[in-house]
Amino acid sequence: MDDGDGHPVESAVTQPIPDPAGFSALGATASPAQTAGLGARAAGLLRGGEALFLWGPLGAGKTLFTQGLCRGLGVTDEVVSPTYNLACRYRGRLTIHHLDFYRVAPGADLADIGVDGMLEELDAGAAVLVAEWPLPLVPVVARRVELLVVPGAGPDDRLWYARGEPQLPPAWRDLLAAAPPC
Ligand SMILES: Nc1ncnc2c1ncn2[C@@H]1O[C@H](COP(=O)(O)OP(=O)(O)O)[C@@H](O)[C@H]1O
Ligand SMILES: [Mg+2]
Repeated sequence: MDDGDGHPVESAVTQPIPDPAGFSALGATASPAQTAGLGARAAGLLRGGEALFLWGPLGAGKTLFTQGLCRGLGVTDEVVSPTYNLACRYRGRLTIHHLDFYRVAPGADLADIGVDGMLEELDAGAAVLVAEWPLPLVPVVARRVELLVVPGAGPDDRLWYARGEPQLPPAWRDLLAAAPPC
């Protein structure tokens, strides 16, 4: 594959972003701080064992949301984008496995990345998994909450959507229902 000028582009860039039509609309955030606040609010819904998929284009706010979520779970370490190291582990009220599979092709050996061990920790209930570009995880994570974030009308506007497997827990549907997080 090339970019039209003969330059190769990474195949992982073709990970599709799902259509919002398959999701419930949650509402909007209008600033980076509001998105971080939304993540912190989501942290309050986590009891351990949850897998959270974050869909959305580059620059939508998936990492910023995760930084807020980690803050909400009491993580004091700096939370960085795992785009290059694929997986970062943080300790707060729960252990957080923050994954970014932008560079992981569907069908890649997830055991190499340590996903099996993470899923065992999830089953034991003391960890959560937050995954950006989660497509390679779809076949191995049956129970999950999925958020989709896409740009809105203004440069700082972001629209949020949610769905779940086997279903979306009602509390997630109401994540943005009250006053916007700040
Ligand atoms: N409402 C908003 N929510 C999240 N990010 C925003 C918002 N408005 C502007 N931004 C900017 O968009 C970028 C989001 O980056 P990041 O969280 O790394 O995206 P992603 O992980 O989805 O690629 C940041 O530079 C942030 O400041
Ligand atoms: Mg990111």
